[in-house]
Amino acid sequence: EKGGWSSFMAKEISEEPEAISKTLLGRIVDGAVRLSELDVLGEGALANIDRVVILGCGTASYSGMLGKYAIEKWARIPVDVELSHEFRYRDPVINDRTLVVSISQSGETMDTLMAVKYAVAAGAKTLSICNTQGATIARESDAAIYTHAGPEVAVASTKAFVAQVAALYLFGLHLAQVRGTLSPEEISGLLGELQALPDQLATVLEQHDAITQLAGWMTDTRSVLFLGRHAGYPVALEGALKLKELAYIHAEGFAAGELKHGPIALIEPGQPVFVIVPSPRAKDSLHKKVVSNIQEIRARGARILAIAEQGDAAVLPYADLVIPIPLASTLFEPLLAVAPLQIFAMELAAAKGLDVDQPRNLAKSVTVE
Ligand code: BG6
Repeated sequence: EKGGWSSFMAKEISEEPEAISKTLLGRIVDGAVRLSELDVLGEGALANIDRVVILGCGTASYSGMLGKYAIEKWARIPVDVELSHEFRYRDPVINDRTLVVSISQSGETMDTLMAVKYAVAAGAKTLSICNTQGATIARESDAAIYTHAGPEVAVASTKAFVAQVAALYLFGLHLAQVRGTLSPEEISGLLGELQALPDQLATVLEQHDAITQLAGWMTDTRSVLFLGRHAGYPVALEGALKLKELAYIHAEGFAAGELKHGPIALIEPGQPVFVIVPSPRAKDSLHKKVVSNIQEIRARGARILAIAEQGDAAVLPYADLVIPIPLASTLFEPLLAVAPLQIFAMELAAAKGLDVDQPRNLAKSVTVE
């Protein structure tokens, strides 16, 4: 069943381009989004919501952060992202104008299921983004957008994550379509970029061997930090989660802008730091700011492992290793930047002789609260 791969996780990472294209399949028609599964919500339902709350646990919560960035930018609706298990215990403000979007690969995570039930009882509209047909969370929700990543066997989520992001982006563009916040030309352009991602991601996966080599050098590492900004921040959090889960190495992800507010104190000579570098082509100044973060920590002895856009010469003088990713717009970069971190965690775990599909103490789907 592993199809020649050493683990389910390796196989599932190799399936990521397909997971994205299958999730998009049939849902883009003539340069517009067509999500017929949302029809059950009724005419006008999505035009009337004034807030979105995204819920999930672990990896799903990080795809949710990217969903927030996309929905707010494209559809101009305020979005909160919350861990499912925190949500219902703090008396959150939700009502019939709130759309609660739950994200769950399995569709059975008890924390998320209970949060969805709470939202239903409070009168919110509910949408599930789920990878497992007919799962409980999807059935409890008003509507479901299924990701078509195929069964995910390895405990650590990989292809489901990229499929969740693709589904959230489709949904964000659908909202923008319904609410008229983007022009049809803008929507069609963004959908075109989304459709180009599977081929771009396939070229990133070709760097597997180089990343395996890096992981092989780092088996004695005690701690790894991950820095990202804007769309790179959830990628940093996910990279750290993967390393903890699989290789049992202390890892933390930070927003790069937060560095000077504390985490820089952790930097000592030899500390490995992955940095997800924003594109130098973006119209904001984030590339410059992150390069200056790199200079600051490099001056304190950090070893810089940069994930940067192809041809980004500014990082070269300061990086111990650069993993290049193809050119993409800011919100699409995470779909290209996350795979190297998944591969790194998997190969480091494998180099330590650990079971990458079944890490200790973890379950694929946690059905207790
Ligand atoms: C954890 C898994 O228990 O649950 C993670 O180990 C996963 O990989 C998280 O991200 C959420 O699971 P699901 O099925 O709700 O997406």
